[in-house]
Amino acid sequence: MAEEFDQDRLVAQTSDDHQEAMIEKSLRPQTLKTYIGQEKIRRELSVYIQAASNRQESLDHVLLYGPPGLGKTTLALVIANEMQVNVRTTSGPAIEKSGDLVALLAELKPGDVLFIDEIHRLPKAVEEVLYSAMEDFYIDIVVGEGPAAHPVHFPLPPFTLIGATTRAGLLSAPLRDRFGIVAHMSYYSVAELMRIIKRTASIFNLTITEDGAREIGRRSRGTPRVANRLLKRIRDFAEVSGVDGVDATIAAQALTQLEVDDDGLDQVDRKILQIIIEFYNGGPVGLKTIAANVGEEVQTIEEMYEPYLLQKGFLKRTPRGRMVTDKSYTHLGFTRRKPD
Ligand SMILES: Nc1ncnc2c1ncn2[C@@H]1O[C@H](COP(=O)(O)OP(=O)(O)OP(=O)(O)O)[C@@H](O)[C@H]1O
Ligand SMILES: [Mg+2]
Repeated sequence: MAEEFDQDRLVAQTSDDHQEAMIEKSLRPQTLKTYIGQEKIRRELSVYIQAASNRQESLDHVLLYGPPGLGKTTLALVIANEMQVNVRTTSGPAIEKSGDLVALLAELKPGDVLFIDEIHRLPKAVEEVLYSAMEDFYIDIVVGEGPAAHPVHFPLPPFTLIGATTRAGLLSAPLRDRFGIVAHMSYYSVAELMRIIKRTASIFNLTITEDGAREIGRRSRGTPRVANRLLKRIRDFAEVSGVDGVDATIAAQALTQLEVDDDGLDQVDRKILQIIIEFYNGGPVGLKTIAANVGEEVQTIEEMYEPYLLQKGFLKRTPRGRMVTDKSYTHLGFTRRKPD
């Protein structure tokens, strides 16, 4: 049962499914102009990109942080495209030894982008190699072993490191300080999600009404990846029901069937709130306890579920743990018990 549910996950952390990864790729906007939302970041980036291009310099290093599915990878690729440079993509956990990083850096051409996803998961030793590479474009490595070992000073071409992380707080201060451009991605508005949904629908050759797009946008927890996923499921639902195109009615029916409620909460979101209410009288309760009760990793709760619940005012953080708000009681149809 748990497995079945996992496969059906709407809020999944990554697109590990190959087919889904291909679809995501085809849906990615490629220019700053077609990238929807994140206005402030786009405005600033466009200035920095233009200035760096005019000076024929590499762009400053960029740190992108924000919850999963908000478009960090997409934006990294857009930046490389706008700078008209090559991009090499890797991730923190994939770089196990400093040698792996050196190999990647050695292949860069002037101005290239190195994109490191989940940069907070870089091993410490690797991170230290990055410092001089980022700051002064060189690396000092030790070549050979035993008595034959000797240091080599290895110059690098100027390059741009783009790091993505779900939480800036997980990054060490020395690493964070070496990024000239730090962009905090925020959840998307319903209007922005509607534009993304309509764009995706047109790529799918699917007709969708304004109200249909709004219904999905409203229930996509501010996240483009979720919006696209929901649209895909709703398209299947419409096809099977023999309906041509998506309107608000069919969208609402499908979303209810997918157990995505009016506020965009899914089963796990509701389970989190329900456990705090039923077992802990509304809280405060620690994150570990919540995770154990829900049967999820602490990290998953903290990075995927909690930020949205906090933002929507269902949950509060206190020094003694998480507490639900009155809004959660009303939403789940509970009445608050007076403290004994
Ligand atoms: N601004 C946007 N405009 C249009 N589509 C977007 C935008 N941002 C994201 N998307 C869509 O959402 C999908 C997920 O985006 P992306 O993979 O870039 O997110 P991410 O932040 O890198 O997520 P993760 O943290 O899981 O790596 C993309 O396939 C893309 O189609
Ligand atoms: Mg990504």
